[in-house]
Amino acid sequence: MPPSVPEHWCIAIDGPAASGKTEIGGAIARRLRWRLFDTGILYRALTWHAIEHDVEPGDAEAVSALLPAASLRLREPDGADAIEVGIEVGGRDATPHLREAAVEAGVSLVARQPRVRAHLIPVQHDAAGRGGLVVVGRDIGTVVLPEAQIKIFLTATAEVRARRRAQQAGPARTSLQVYEAQRRRDAHDMERAESPLVPAADAVEIDTTDLTLEQSVARAIEVVDQALAATHQQRLPI
Ligand code: CDP
Repeated sequence: MPPSVPEHWCIAIDGPAASGKTEIGGAIARRLRWRLFDTGILYRALTWHAIEHDVEPGDAEAVSALLPAASLRLREPDGADAIEVGIEVGGRDATPHLREAAVEAGVSLVARQPRVRAHLIPVQHDAAGRGGLVVVGRDIGTVVLPEAQIKIFLTATAEVRARRRAQQAGPARTSLQVYEAQRRRDAHDMERAESPLVPAADAVEIDTTDLTLEQSVARAIEVVDQALAATHQQRLPI
């Protein structure tokens, strides 16, 4: 039996790169039989689109000139057990390109542009309007969905996050390369003027540095549980 979390609810999960947002968000979405919307795909898809059009990701004028015709479209999860919302840009499936090195290097330059962020707010609101969504990002609890019923902010030390990401990336990239690229991206995300990465005042922080993925998921489920208990809903089955 899926737990009865009200269907119009959204759960916002924010945090820096490789803090576990997607895995933990995915585990919660699976338990609730909800969908997972990792909003990073929007910024990554636009970055890929810019690169495909020979536009420098850091060139704000040129990137914003691409926006009106970029036609970003979210796709329903693809496959019977799939939970993750996908993305199309300019009529093409961007999903296979989202983790390419050029996208990784350019995405935080695109994400710091106020016109890009303003353009993406209604896309995120449309998706969240239907409810039943775990929304993962940097500014979800603060700017995109400040009314989200549950907000979680994940942290972990930069070293632990780089180690985790290097394991995901495989032998092609060393831990040091991943660490440096990630540090640059984190610094851009935290220091930018527009929607910087900060916890919402009402977010529950979970430091996953010394936790396994299973422990982190269990702690996040506890947070969901507590929010449900506070509204006299039933507990989540673990
Ligand atoms: O998976 P990871 O946390 O490494 O990255 P991501 O969530 O795919 O986000 C990639 C980049 O998009 C981040 O470094 C941010 O610059 C930007 N982003 C953002 O600004 N706001 C969001 N809500 C989501 C992502």
